[in-house]
Amino acid sequence: MSIFKLALFAACVVLSGLTAGQQSTFSPAQPPAIPLAVKSPYLNTWLYDNDDGNGGNLAGQWSQFWAGQVTAWTGMIRVDGTTYTWMGAPGPKPVIQKAFQYTSTSSIFTMDVGGSVEMNITFTSPITPDDMKRQSLLFSYLNVEVTSLDGNPHHVQLYTDISAEWVAGDHGSVAQWDYGVTSDKVAYHKIHRETQLAFDESFDQANWGNWYYSTANSDNLSFQSGSDKNVRGDFQTNGKLGNSKDTTYRPINQDWPVFGFSSDFGSIHKETHSTLYTIGLAQEKAIQFNGASGIVPLPSLWSSYFSSEDEAVGFFYNDYGGASRTARGLDNKIARDSLAAGGQNYLTATSLATRQAFGALQLVGDSTKQYLFLKEISSNGNTQTVDVVFPFHPILLYLNPELLKLMLDPLFENQESGHYPNKYSIHDLGTHYPNATGYTDGGDEAMPLEECGNMLVMTLVYAQRTKNKDYLKQHYKMLDQWAQYLIDEALIPAKQISTDDFAGPLENQTNLALKGMIGIQAMAIIANLTGDTATGANYTNIASSYIDQWQTLGVAHDADPPHTTLSYGSNDTHGLLYNIYCDKLLATNLVPQKIYDMQSAFYPTIMGKYGVPLDTRHAYTKSDWEIFVAAVASQSTKDMFLGKIASWISETPTNRAMTDLYEVPTGSFPGGLTFTARPVVGGFFALLALKGASSEPF
Ligand SMILES: *[C@@H]1O[C@H](CO)[C@@H](O)[C@H](O)[C@H]1NC(C)=O
Ligand SMILES: *[C@@H]1O[C@H](CO)[C@@H](O)[C@H](O)[C@H]1NC(C)=O
Ligand SMILES: *[C@@H]1O[C@H](CO)[C@@H](O)[C@H](O)[C@H]1NC(C)=O
Ligand SMILES: *[C@@H]1O[C@H](CO)[C@@H](O)[C@H](O)[C@H]1NC(C)=O
Ligand SMILES: *[C@@H]1O[C@H](CO)[C@@H](O)[C@H](O)[C@H]1NC(C)=O
Ligand SMILES: *[C@@H]1O[C@H](CO)[C@@H](O)[C@H](O)[C@H]1NC(C)=O
Ligand SMILES: *[C@@H]1O[C@H](CO)[C@@H](O)[C@H](O)[C@H]1NC(C)=O
Repeated sequence: MSIFKLALFAACVVLSGLTAGQQSTFSPAQPPAIPLAVKSPYLNTWLYDNDDGNGGNLAGQWSQFWAGQVTAWTGMIRVDGTTYTWMGAPGPKPVIQKAFQYTSTSSIFTMDVGGSVEMNITFTSPITPDDMKRQSLLFSYLNVEVTSLDGNPHHVQLYTDISAEWVAGDHGSVAQWDYGVTSDKVAYHKIHRETQLAFDESFDQANWGNWYYSTANSDNLSFQSGSDKNVRGDFQTNGKLGNSKDTTYRPINQDWPVFGFSSDFGSIHKETHSTLYTIGLAQEKAIQFNGASGIVPLPSLWSSYFSSEDEAVGFFYNDYGGASRTARGLDNKIARDSLAAGGQNYLTATSLATRQAFGALQLVGDSTKQYLFLKEISSNGNTQTVDVVFPFHPILLYLNPELLKLMLDPLFENQESGHYPNKYSIHDLGTHYPNATGYTDGGDEAMPLEECGNMLVMTLVYAQRTKNKDYLKQHYKMLDQWAQYLIDEALIPAKQISTDDFAGPLENQTNLALKGMIGIQAMAIIANLTGDTATGANYTNIASSYIDQWQTLGVAHDADPPHTTLSYGSNDTHGLLYNIYCDKLLATNLVPQKIYDMQSAFYPTIMGKYGVPLDTRHAYTKSDWEIFVAAVASQSTKDMFLGKIASWISETPTNRAMTDLYEVPTGSFPGGLTFTARPVVGGFFALLALKGASSEPF
């Protein structure tokens, strides 16, 4: 990124008469990608820090879907007859970006338009963990404020559009569109594929549903659909649009149809003018699920709160006042708690991770039964991957543990209905989102120890934080089946993959064995809590015997300094012992403090430029697991990890929605592995999720 920052610096010197030599400030950091509208697996558009010297500038390059396709989103402004670009790359010269700031919910740009006008451009993707109605809407806000900068009056017209690229990843597919106004006076362009293919994707974009780009239907609004050249050209020439519809529905890439709005502010002087836009996707059906009643389509949850798409579009638009206050409230809560737990370096990471983590989620169901589905974005598109839910889940424990239940429910429902034949836990609910049709043949990617441990840990921590003992009773049989598997397999783990499957299979993995043992102890606690104290006593003894043996099998005691190994007996190996986090999360008190102290003393001795390698097989690491380790480390080791991750965010040469996997020495993507936009960054909340950990019975 540093090369491109230099190029950008040079460009600014040339472009800006007034702020020569000044490039945009970035606060708290210049991230590898800036979230613009990131609210669900399909509403997931970013400003990527592309290799064209335009890093971090909203004007001058197109925004992109997480997978890389352009989702063109245009902004232009005419000041006293001269047109500038403030978003995208439609042609006119760019405004000067003075500042960029991100919070957990918002990305905010401040622009200087020719020295005469200032713009604040705020993208907000609301996250409302306690408000299902709002969380269920897959919409995002763009608010543009304009004021005179030099104290003189200026004639100002504002323009924006989206292209049909938003509605399908295959640009040869035919788009269709319409223009309308809701009963509560919200004007919208509605765009969709001519042929709706439910539950189908191309290049990870949805092939069904209706997209809405909306604004207030005020007197000064004009609109137009048509080819990019015509619509944008009309604005540049006239400062307004023709209030006309192109009715030649055609492929997305044929005379690129765009959907524009223009607001005429007239002469602006002292006052600030603002225009609000919303963008989003309405799908009536969201997921195919193989649950208690066999394979059924599940509706999007918003459809149980709103009787029509119009009503949902109007509600979201008119909700901005409250929604932006709620967003600021969440920003402040995350800022306050992150600063207290780990300082500014930690907040730099958590606030960047929040929208990315929630951007993989979708609420589905109806008023009687809700589910929260997750897409394993980028690494393969699986639905509800257990070992992705696991690293993700700390953010839910912190924000609202009831949401974790909505993620675990479909996993239990599928397996308890007899749709999965293996005695260990399923790995995921479907090879590709939005299909959650499971594996009746048991042919999923087997990660038996990992997923049994994950399910036991997450089920118990959910019950502990919400005091929901009934949930443990309800799923006791399945939980005990998984615990039996761990009793058989966790002490001497067979050759298998762990969640870090890209690193390959291995026998006797020390970290994996530890997860299994904590899983057995979790079941002992579950048994005791639900009145089965004989089983509780038995499993407690087994876990205790296993952890004693593990301390011999998995620790290189004679090494200097001593540390746990990657696998038993390989004393010259090591790895991040991130599963130890589960012991503190559940307050199981299974792992002796001396193991924590040993690891805290060891990690600084193998620290590289951007962190500690995942294990001795490769030079790469995972930021989610580093933060799990940091969360239970000594203060100085914790600070060291958080400092490395904050440096990585500012300096990484990666240029896509934050990867969790990166090379320690360079901060780049490992060869061939461009993990991007994955929800596992919810694990950055590991420090905050420890609050409330308790071994007290409830
Ligand atoms: C932009 O935001 C800054 C900081 O909140 C404020 O001082 C300025 O007046 C705003 N400008 C506009 C055009 O809203
Ligand atoms: C989901 O399953 C349907 C068939 O029911 C299929 O048409 C669709 O392509 C699948 N979606 C994905 C993303 O694989
Ligand atoms: C609408 O335009 C008129 C004149 O062009 C201007 O006086 C008025 O302030 C504008 N209203 C808004 C809300 O921008
Ligand atoms: C795994 O560890 C056990 C205990 O040290 C040992 O007996 C066994 O040979 C190891 N397995 C492999 C495949 O190395
Ligand atoms: C569970 O209860 C048994 C019997 O009271 C006790 O021996 C055991 O220590 C308990 N286990 C845990 C993990 O609390
Ligand atoms: C303890 O549990 C294990 C695993 O289920 C079982 O084999 C063993 O018989 C149990 N022991 C007692 C004393 O119940
Ligand atoms: C590894 O270290 C342990 C204790 O530090 C020792 O007992 C064991 O023999 C060592 N293993 C090998 C293969 O050197």
